[in-house]
Amino acid sequence: MYEALTPVSEMLSRNLDMLCHQPLLVCGLLEDDLPGLLAAHGPAPRVFTTDFRYFQWLSSHNDMQPEFGAAPTATPAAGLLLLMPKAKAEAHYLLAACLPLLPPGAPVFIAGDNKGGVKAAPKLLAPWCEQVNKVDSARRASLYQAVLSRPAPAFAADDWVGRYPLEEEHLTVCTLPGVFSADHLDAGTRLLLNNAGALHGRVLDFGCGAGVIGASLLKRNPGIELEQIDINALALAASRLTLAENGLQAKVYPSDGLGEVQGHFDCIISNPPFHAGLKTFYDTTETLLCDAKRYLKPGGSLLLVANAFLPYPDLIEQGFGHCETLAANGRFKIYRATA
Ligand SMILES: C[S@@+](CC[C@H](N)C(=O)[O-])C[C@H]1O[C@@H](n2cnc3c(N)ncnc32)[C@H](O)[C@@H]1O
Repeated sequence: MYEALTPVSEMLSRNLDMLCHQPLLVCGLLEDDLPGLLAAHGPAPRVFTTDFRYFQWLSSHNDMQPEFGAAPTATPAAGLLLLMPKAKAEAHYLLAACLPLLPPGAPVFIAGDNKGGVKAAPKLLAPWCEQVNKVDSARRASLYQAVLSRPAPAFAADDWVGRYPLEEEHLTVCTLPGVFSADHLDAGTRLLLNNAGALHGRVLDFGCGAGVIGASLLKRNPGIELEQIDINALALAASRLTLAENGLQAKVYPSDGLGEVQGHFDCIISNPPFHAGLKTFYDTTETLLCDAKRYLKPGGSLLLVANAFLPYPDLIEQGFGHCETLAANGRFKIYRATA
């Protein structure tokens, strides 16, 4: 899945002498075995990832023991390589979380696809590094190098939490950088919530993001037993914050698709993901539509919002033998299928 090197890593492979002087803390958009490449040429890097799929892959692929979470553990590091994430806000966040682990004078590298915002590297590093140099550029990817000239302040996770109200539900949603619907409720999610009806029993919020669906359902159906899953550690952290902020409780845990989910549910509800980064992986949502029935109790339902143009009804019919359209507007449709 992550076997072929990305163009960014191919460009980095020409710079291994510079990168392998010290064990680097590597984080950001990891999509291949760059850690293995670095380890083969120098000291093994320390890998921190917010992506559970990558964490599982790297853990099983070599003995690197990556860290998965919303922030790296507070162990000092000798240098940093940030692979530019898709959201610039996430790059700011990752730098704020990682730079305090470095001593002054430590090397800091930022690499990424030219179309993925890597050109912002000098601005991103300006608060801490006097000079930021572009040291390589190839295959539409660039590498910037700097030296930490000012110690970065201790990371204060709370400073990165955004909040917005869901007035209809009397809820406050907590978000973190890069998490879906960072400053307002998604229009598709709103349509889904307006058509969810009353729920009971065991409910799974699949791809919970900031936890809006689960929190709204708990507020309306206090008796449900809610589980919230996401592949992204920042989404999981935001969901936990949303629950705590509103005095709600659920089981929140990382899962790539339904991989870590146990047992059977009365309802699986989702505004499912529909892009999977710069590389194309197997489609999470297609797999969900095919497999959901196996995770539902008899009579349990899959409830989904999707862009109206996506061919999901056919896939739901393949999985369930039927697909009901509960609601539609110009952009979105709500589908339900019962096991
Ligand atoms: C469209 S967002 C919906 C977020 C939230 N439920 C809402 O409605 O605002 C889809 C979510 O699915 C998560 N996701 C993407 N791929 C996933 C996977 N393979 N397994 C679990 N969650 C995934 C993303 O991190 C994202 O939070």
